[in-house]
Amino acid sequence: MSSPKITVPDLRARKTQGPKIAMLTAYDATMAKLLEQGGADVLLVGDSLGMVVQGLPNTLPVTLDEMCYHGRAVARAARRAHVMGDLPFMSYQASPEQAVMAAGRLLKEGGCESVKLEGGADFAEHVRRIVRASIPVMAHIGLTPQSVHAMGGFRVQGREPQAAERLLEDARVLEQAGAFALLLEGIPSALAERITQAVSIPTVGIGAGPGCDGQVLVCYDFLGMYPDLRPRFVKHFAEVGESIVSATRAYVAEVQAGTFPDQSHSFGAGPRAEPSGNRPVVGESGAQAGYGPANDE
Ligand code: KIV
Repeated sequence: MSSPKITVPDLRARKTQGPKIAMLTAYDATMAKLLEQGGADVLLVGDSLGMVVQGLPNTLPVTLDEMCYHGRAVARAARRAHVMGDLPFMSYQASPEQAVMAAGRLLKEGGCESVKLEGGADFAEHVRRIVRASIPVMAHIGLTPQSVHAMGGFRVQGREPQAAERLLEDARVLEQAGAFALLLEGIPSALAERITQAVSIPTVGIGAGPGCDGQVLVCYDFLGMYPDLRPRFVKHFAEVGESIVSATRAYVAEVQAGTFPDQSHSFGAGPRAEPSGNRPVVGESGAQAGYGPANDE
């Protein structure tokens, strides 16, 4: 029997009861299935897909339609893990009304169970209105990649005392507004610990040290698949990128030498020649379990 779905109340309870929340990004069904098998609690359909999937220099061009497309793919595969969707740049900043509509689309069309938005106290009303629509919100503060131009690059935030106090205040205001959790990115460890102790909702860190209630990494980063950018907080838990390159070299060599495919990877002339009879070549056809249509309507 599979484990039950991880819910927002379950995640809130981790603050006091543990264990720490283990969150990873996912952008497609195959990766989502594998990360869930490994025990990930939360799969974040992050707008980081703009960089690691689409090859962009930042997340700004990612659209809400694209987030919904990837959300559906992840939601279709996730049985236990909580699925969270990122609100992309300019899908929510203009007004609380715009934020509610965009968050609603991530649930209705993207199959997500909660949303994440970047921004501090200035976005408290946006959070309040989304929560009023019964949509759980994680608020992302500190290094907020959608503000890359305003920050002058991807820079650690909250190092100066005044900036640290502002982030602490942001955290309190966002909790008051109804956020069920906070994402703390790119801030000093001591500040992340202070924020974690100051709020009653869980904090999930990335580049925020070990004192948070959970951690998140971009899946391409922790698997060693994204060589373009390797910030100090990224740890490679595998070198999948190197495995892909060496597997590709082996494939190319076998194709060029004519040793792949061999008889064991080829078909005979008639159904009786097959050990399995005339069964479908790739699994059973028919209805697929999971969320929504595969195509982008
Ligand atoms: O988009 C994303 O992947 C994120 C993570 C960096 C937390 O927001």
